[in-house]
Amino acid sequence: MSCYRKLKVFMLCYLGIIMAPVDALVHHKFEVRRSSHTRLCTTKSMLTVNGQFPGPTIYARRGELVVVDVINRADANITIHWHGVKMPRYPWTDGVDSVTQCPITPGKSFRQRILLSDEEGTLFWHAHIDWTRATVHGAIIILPPKTHTYPFPKPHAEFPILLGEWWNDDVQQVYEDFIARGQSAQLSDAFLMNGQPGDQYPCSKQDTLKLSVEPGKTYLIRMINAMMNFIMYLKIKDHNVTVVGMDGAYTKPLNTDHIAIAPGQTIDFLLEANQPPSRYYMAGRIYSGRVGTNTTGIVEYVGNYTWPRPSSPVLPSFPEFDDGVAKSTHFSNRLRSLADDNYPIKVPMNITHNMFVTLSINTWPCLTNSCVFDYRLVGSMNNVTMLLPKTQNILEAYYKGIRGVFTPDFPAMTPIIFDFTQGYKPGNFAPAQSGTAVYMLDYNSEVEMVLQGTNYGTGDGIDHPMHLHGHSFYVVGSGYGNFHPNTDPPNFNLIDPPLVNTVAVPRSGWSAIRFKANNPGVWFMHCHFERHHSWGMKMAFIVKDGEAPNEKMLPPPPDMPRCEAPPAASTI
Ligand code: C2O
Ligand code: CU
Repeated sequence: MSCYRKLKVFMLCYLGIIMAPVDALVHHKFEVRRSSHTRLCTTKSMLTVNGQFPGPTIYARRGELVVVDVINRADANITIHWHGVKMPRYPWTDGVDSVTQCPITPGKSFRQRILLSDEEGTLFWHAHIDWTRATVHGAIIILPPKTHTYPFPKPHAEFPILLGEWWNDDVQQVYEDFIARGQSAQLSDAFLMNGQPGDQYPCSKQDTLKLSVEPGKTYLIRMINAMMNFIMYLKIKDHNVTVVGMDGAYTKPLNTDHIAIAPGQTIDFLLEANQPPSRYYMAGRIYSGRVGTNTTGIVEYVGNYTWPRPSSPVLPSFPEFDDGVAKSTHFSNRLRSLADDNYPIKVPMNITHNMFVTLSINTWPCLTNSCVFDYRLVGSMNNVTMLLPKTQNILEAYYKGIRGVFTPDFPAMTPIIFDFTQGYKPGNFAPAQSGTAVYMLDYNSEVEMVLQGTNYGTGDGIDHPMHLHGHSFYVVGSGYGNFHPNTDPPNFNLIDPPLVNTVAVPRSGWSAIRFKANNPGVWFMHCHFERHHSWGMKMAFIVKDGEAPNEKMLPPPPDMPRCEAPPAASTI
């Protein structure tokens, strides 16, 4: 570390802004503004960071402190979240609108500290207010400490790939229409790899991501699903890959011919250029709603060879719908923590809180005349549809003891037991309750949460990529149908379960997770499908301070965005 960097760290510490142990410091300036971008022959102005889409990549080493000055030069409110970064004792700059802060309004700025701890691998950052994250996102790459290397052979080069979605229309408009109509959102017009749709869409020939590879070399691909609403199933024609990490933690090497990645997940895999030199498609498609549109990139071997086919390379073959869904689940079930001497894991074994939480799409009567039907869809966890406070945020209310902002009564158990995954609609026998309910945890509590998908309301159920802030958790089990409290737990994997921040709870099925609540603060949990999130499939944990001084929340920074009355916001 240079003296200059040391000096900057020292000054920050001296000013009492942050007292966490710091090895080094990385400083970024994020200017949120509108910039023009063209895809599918459509030019539109959209919110970006520094004019880039996807936004800038943050590189750091394990345990470093990253400081980002977020400056809002746009015409919309913004917050920025560091997805998968635990932010020990420092929820203040976690960046969640109405949960940990009020938004950064146009013209204002906020210096955000990103406290890395044991994360190593790939994470990402994204906006966390309305649907702004569709265009405001970028990669976070956390390298091993200087003295260490990867627990796999050093790759020749690395490529981050962010999956995204493109609407020909303004995303804010898409969001507002979606809320007004009370139904699913207008589908995006294309899926993207690093902002490029690939040549399978109308008017997209030129916009294709290319990865140049040298024959015989191995590459590390850092895949990030920053899409809004879909799980992506990906294959590279004629190549197997080896998964080595997920959500900022290493996994046991897993050889596979496809990966499935949900919004909020990151997957690191090795690609060996071991096929005859040629051009190969890397293609992704979804298994929900719209089978058949592919986003594509091209893996292009360098060297002198005659390209055998006159036009495009050939697409890899994809499974049919139901098989594709099953294969996606099967893929995530095969992932295991590396869990060796150098990267030990610690699965909580003394569970103090057993939670059983249903995930549902419910209906409410529509109170406006803008709805398509006389009801609107809402999402719920344990039948509670979460409403976010409008002029306050939960963290500040908790810290300052302001009453009436949230209630500490999120239920640990579903209030109604029924055949959760039956094939027919149970109808409206228990409309979702609304509220701002949080679940309180004492410091160092050990939580087991079974997330049970339901077919309530809409009939056939869907996967839910559930994401937790402030902690990673172990996925100790999952299955189809209803969770059985007697027969399922004996099959839990407590030896090497994957350590993640997002779990794709299978359609008509369940997942069981465990985590230790050792991070005091307010931590959001929600479905990372943006439409479900907007519909209220979310809740928050408050982890209380412990006894020792280093078990307490740090004080807030001096420049927390001020809470002001919002513009007439359109939320459910
Ligand atoms: Cu990717 Cu609440 O976040
Ligand atoms: Cu969901």
